[in-house]
Amino acid sequence: MDLLSKLPALRNVIREIRTSIHENTHMSDVLDMVARKASNVIGAKGALVRVLNLETGTLDFFASYGLEERYLSKGPATNIKLIGQLCEMNEIVVIDDILNSPRVQFPKEAWEEGVRMIVDAPLIVQQPLVGLLRMHFTEVREIDRIEKHFLTSVAEQCASAIDKAYLIETQRFQYDQLTHQTEKLAALGRMAAGIAHEINNPLAGILLYSSHLSKKVAPDSPIHEGLQVISHETARCRDIIQNLLEFSRNDKPRRVPADLNKVIEQALNIVENELRLHHIRLVRHLTADLPEIPMDANQIEQVFVNLLINATEAIGEEGTVTVSSRQEEGGGQLTAEISDTGIGIPRDIVGKIFEPFFSTKAKGTGLGLSVSYGIVQNHKGTLRVSSSPGKGTRFTVTLPVITEGKAADPVTVTQEIHNEAD
Ligand SMILES: Nc1ncnc2c1ncn2[C@@H]1O[C@H](COP(=O)(O)OP(=O)(O)O)[C@@H](O)[C@H]1O
Ligand SMILES: [Mg+2]
Repeated sequence: MDLLSKLPALRNVIREIRTSIHENTHMSDVLDMVARKASNVIGAKGALVRVLNLETGTLDFFASYGLEERYLSKGPATNIKLIGQLCEMNEIVVIDDILNSPRVQFPKEAWEEGVRMIVDAPLIVQQPLVGLLRMHFTEVREIDRIEKHFLTSVAEQCASAIDKAYLIETQRFQYDQLTHQTEKLAALGRMAAGIAHEINNPLAGILLYSSHLSKKVAPDSPIHEGLQVISHETARCRDIIQNLLEFSRNDKPRRVPADLNKVIEQALNIVENELRLHHIRLVRHLTADLPEIPMDANQIEQVFVNLLINATEAIGEEGTVTVSSRQEEGGGQLTAEISDTGIGIPRDIVGKIFEPFFSTKAKGTGLGLSVSYGIVQNHKGTLRVSSSPGKGTRFTVTLPVITEGKAADPVTVTQEIHNEAD
């Protein structure tokens, strides 16, 4: 067949692949079809498609056509060098000496399968390699310009099918994680409540007796100092327990209509001094005239205090904390955001920060975020985080608006307060 007479058939295959991707066909169906159609149209014995496993970094078998099980079952392609080369070359590679090419991981098996030539097409979406399409031929022959072009297009289509599947899988994974985390938090909450109740009474006893005794002992006595430490540390334990009980409390928050901005201001009042001490600039973007929404103002204030303290601690010295509030389009919910220019949260721990007792700080309790999460959840709202390690973090709180009648159009008021050293 001369070059030009092949064109319509090749174009047809590309079109079919493209259609099947658009029709939302499952990734494995698309790749099976690619292996079959591509092999038939260019007269290959068969083809296989490997997809990069993001966890293990290996190219795992995904789809094939025309090749024996014996050959296919030879495990994933783990040759890191090969994977690296494919990424760099980003082009079709013809292997006509399969017994001696370092690119062929199982040359003997390939030879026994009747394969004499292999053509590799890397599957690449904007640089990262997502897989490999490997065509197998029973004879060594020239792969012409049009065939190379065809394989490149097929590879592009495969790569976009894989990329789309990754995206769907990531979304599903995030959703599963969230559900799992919510269940885990609920279980931990119940357990924490049980323990907290048990510990609360003996703690109250220790606190009572130690402060009582320290009053009776002369202030210059060495025992006095010891007793003070006991009181102080016991009080700390009591606060932790209080937080835990708060977190695990199942009763509904006492909700009365309140102004979100006022609650934010109250929280800012508490931390403002701390910000000033650490030369942290505070920027407010609070939207005026937000509708009042039903909430337990004390609890929500606690959420903002926790988030603001974390932001301050993440910055250390000198930086900016930005606090904003707004009503979402459609009016169904209010959103408040606390962003900081602090150290950010490494990707591998971001999934853990809402767990009780998870802390990366030497003196942290690891309860601030889990308590906040519980409170916001009790208000039927959401608490989300997004962070760029090294740059900063943003926590987003949303709370539902339950109104009769339509809320007035909000107006954004931007106000900046500079907390530089006075
Ligand atoms: N704004 C933030 N920037 C960076 N890391 C944060 C931020 N907020 C929370 N974290 C991380 O989440 C962890 C848990 O926070 P939290 O529950 O408040 O406990 P704690 O503050 O006692 O450590 C922190 O130890 C920290 O690693
Ligand atoms: Mg904290």
